[in-house]
Amino acid sequence: MPLAKISILLDEPVAVIRPELHGQFAEHLGGCVNGGLWVGENSPIPNFAGLRTDVLNALKRLRIPVLRWPGGCFADDYHWEDGIGPRKDRPRRVNTWWGMDVEDNAFGTHEFLMLCRHLGCQPFLAGNVGTGSPREMRDWVEYCNFANDSTLARRRAQNGSPQPFGVRYWGVGNEAWGCGGNFCPEDYGAQYKRFATYLRDFPGTPLFLIACGPDGNKPDWTRRFLRKIASGDARFNYRIHGLGAHYYCGTAGPSATEFDANQWYELLHKAAGVEQLIREQRTVMDEFDPQRKIGLLIDEWGTWHFPTPGRNPLHLWQQNTLRDALAAAITLDTFHRHADQLAMANIAQLANVLQAVVLTEGDRMVLTPTYHVFDLYQPHQGGRSVRVAFEAPPIRFAVRDTAMQLAGLSGSASIKGNVLILTVVNPHATLPLEAEIDLAGRSISRAALNVLSDEDLAAHNTFDQPNRIKPSEEALQIEAGEVWHVFPAASVSRLEFELD
Ligand code: AHR
Repeated sequence: MPLAKISILLDEPVAVIRPELHGQFAEHLGGCVNGGLWVGENSPIPNFAGLRTDVLNALKRLRIPVLRWPGGCFADDYHWEDGIGPRKDRPRRVNTWWGMDVEDNAFGTHEFLMLCRHLGCQPFLAGNVGTGSPREMRDWVEYCNFANDSTLARRRAQNGSPQPFGVRYWGVGNEAWGCGGNFCPEDYGAQYKRFATYLRDFPGTPLFLIACGPDGNKPDWTRRFLRKIASGDARFNYRIHGLGAHYYCGTAGPSATEFDANQWYELLHKAAGVEQLIREQRTVMDEFDPQRKIGLLIDEWGTWHFPTPGRNPLHLWQQNTLRDALAAAITLDTFHRHADQLAMANIAQLANVLQAVVLTEGDRMVLTPTYHVFDLYQPHQGGRSVRVAFEAPPIRFAVRDTAMQLAGLSGSASIKGNVLILTVVNPHATLPLEAEIDLAGRSISRAALNVLSDEDLAAHNTFDQPNRIKPSEEALQIEAGEVWHVFPAASVSRLEFELD
């Protein structure tokens, strides 16, 4: 069995892991909101004021820090006033991006804020630039955040919320380079400035305004957008607090559940590519913003497999296997290692769409392997990321005759009080890997281990077998203060140490 070493460099702190790096995203798309989160009060499916009880309870456990809504592409065709007031009077609109479904607007601003309250998370509203106006968006901000006696604040009170919602995170459009208006960076820059001018901080709620970043790692978009924003005004960053890139690592192989070992490695390698995005985007941002007042976000990320036969391809429903779990773990570990460079990240999407953490069908729900990774990684939230050195033989593979390699082990570590959390991915499809874990001479009073793994690389949960794959609690061998551990093939492990 090959040997490896993991050194935790306790005296090399990176930054606190903002809980927002574990954010989620929900769009009016297929079964994400309608059916996945929301069934309505009159549904036979058990619900709390219209929100599915099973999903709500499962999500609470993840301590979701922030939830982005209502899109996605849907956001730039969404008019917030359609989703307030008595539900019977709300208009029925066509969801032109996602299958021409009729959207009844039963789940609107108040329902979303109620969901966030139940989950204990911050709301992140994506505003409409594509088909909206600065006036429409500034009114939404006032409706949500103004405490005194304006007409919009009165409407909010009549609709059940006398207290302002205090929404801090606002996206100024979505994917401005594509479904958000097909802008070039300069034209979007001009739109951004115009919208941001009117998005004001009402007392008690300073806004965090988020501009649309690039499609993947495109330095050109970021540089041209920031140059436009900077032009003519030395205080350019006055009304820009974040820039949100999107990173979909895509797929490899014929489907979510059918792939060979090379395609397994290919997808994990693509997931690891998010590291290059973080480094390069931050470098471009630093040219304009050396003090890093503008945060880098990745407000959509995840796997995106080919359409599932028998499902509407525009509903983006996909199964979620152990491979997706490792892709999620590699991505979250990368975020932790770059905690000093990232302000927020949101996986796409919460339920039934793309790399979902829950799948529902009628009154049944399953937790996906990706859910289990978020659950395992949750204790990293708020911990201080410290540098970790991994020494392990790289994995060599080929994609269409091109030789490639993937790190033999990867992960992240964080410390909170005297508790050290170490998460580790062994991406090898067949080989376990024994590693020494060097804790920089610290002794341990308690250790715990949880592992997500399976002999079948495509292991997944179904409505008939909802617990086919889930983490197991295992014993960790510690002898004379030395920690040696065999990381199983194709695994995600969480090790927890209480340091003396
Ligand atoms: O998450 C699905 C879609 O992917 C979103 O609507 C869009 O922003 C992105 O292209």
